[in-house]
Amino acid sequence: MKESIMKRACKSGIAEINIINIRDFTFDKHHITDERLYGGGSGMVLKPEPIFAAVEAVTSTCRPRIIVTSPQGRPFDQKIALELAKEEQLIIICGHYEGIDERVLQGLATDVLSMGDFILTGGELPAMAIADAVVRLLPGALGDETATDEESFGESLLEYPQYTRPSVFRGMEVPEVLVSGNHKEISQWRHDQALLRTWQNRPELLEKANLTRQDKTFLAKLDERKKAPFRLYVALLHYPVYNKKKQVVSTSLTNLDLHDIARASATFGVSGYYIVQPMEGQRQMMQELIDHWQQGFGAIYNPDRMQALSLVHLMPYLEDVLTHLKEENRQTLKIIATSACYEQGMEAISYREMRKVMEDTGGNYLLLLGTGWGLAKEIIRDADFCLRPIYGKGDYNHLSVRSAASIILDRLLGEKISRY
Ligand SMILES: C[S@@+](CC[C@H](N)C(=O)[O-])C[C@H]1O[C@@H](n2cnc3c(N)ncnc32)[C@H](O)[C@@H]1O
Repeated sequence: MKESIMKRACKSGIAEINIINIRDFTFDKHHITDERLYGGGSGMVLKPEPIFAAVEAVTSTCRPRIIVTSPQGRPFDQKIALELAKEEQLIIICGHYEGIDERVLQGLATDVLSMGDFILTGGELPAMAIADAVVRLLPGALGDETATDEESFGESLLEYPQYTRPSVFRGMEVPEVLVSGNHKEISQWRHDQALLRTWQNRPELLEKANLTRQDKTFLAKLDERKKAPFRLYVALLHYPVYNKKKQVVSTSLTNLDLHDIARASATFGVSGYYIVQPMEGQRQMMQELIDHWQQGFGAIYNPDRMQALSLVHLMPYLEDVLTHLKEENRQTLKIIATSACYEQGMEAISYREMRKVMEDTGGNYLLLLGTGWGLAKEIIRDADFCLRPIYGKGDYNHLSVRSAASIILDRLLGEKISRY
């Protein structure tokens, strides 16, 4: 602490640093400051008496901030440093061995601060880090009052990249904008780079940052670019599904399922909606309904509906859907099953994880929805993923398939609550 800024600050009277040895506040022959743990366990713990005595001896203001350094504390950051820089006196207690008797934290500490999620041997380095971060914020410590203004964390953002001479070093060039002399552009570039760097390395800081609408658009574009392109298809299976008695049957069509799932699919950007119906008469009837809205009066009466129904394909069996999709795309196809309740041995994926898989790996996905009493277990077993059942608050668990479809599509494809 006798170097650089700390040295200058102490010399010019901006700060005063005193190092206190707690051994000087022991009253036994061997100056013992540590003891074994009550309740057993390895290692030694610092005793409370010498620490209380040392702190009481050096307390000069009526209520100084008393900091204990510990990996169990709240993370030390620039905001805390700014807060501490306003204090007249700070007392920092360095732990050692296994730590400090809890009563020091209970009866003495005003703050418990951690340097990060790692274990150091003692609190000396954390104390030096805190002292350094605080002293350089004291008026006059840096000489140039503006020097701390643009640093990392100033606006909850990391600092932009910095360059100095030479303009080309080992083939690496200084960005053109920085040598342009255009201050407005330089300032915009620096701001964007600070956003980019924070987005790359410390995205959680963006949640606290004071962002303009322009910043949010910039960050949303970065998020969007990171996503791998994927397509989600939906298949509504009327076979093989269970009936009330758990027998595998084929169910009959529902006009509402045709319309509502097609409309939800169009809303959420589903790439195709397959209706699987093995009974020919049922398919014919369904085709008539589709034709009405695609080619008949319905198409003129309601073009929005025509747009939604253009996603619909009628197929006799699931195998036909798979063949159709394989012919359409060369990318791999992963199947996502759904179920209203947990079956024995079923491994279910959360909606958040499923969304992440699709966004991170891209490709094609087919979401299977069951009619009747749900998809036959073979279908779920053979799928690549099975989504967790949707649960409400109580025991009632009888959503219509079209309601479930909307909820699932919203969770998998819907607008994410903005993290900025
Ligand atoms: C070996 S550590 C004790 C760790 C303690 N047994 C635990 O698991 O939390 C000894 C001392 O080093 C200091 N220390 C170690 N890691 C730290 C960190 N990440 N932040 C702040 N202080 C730390 C503390 O003063 C601590 O009492």
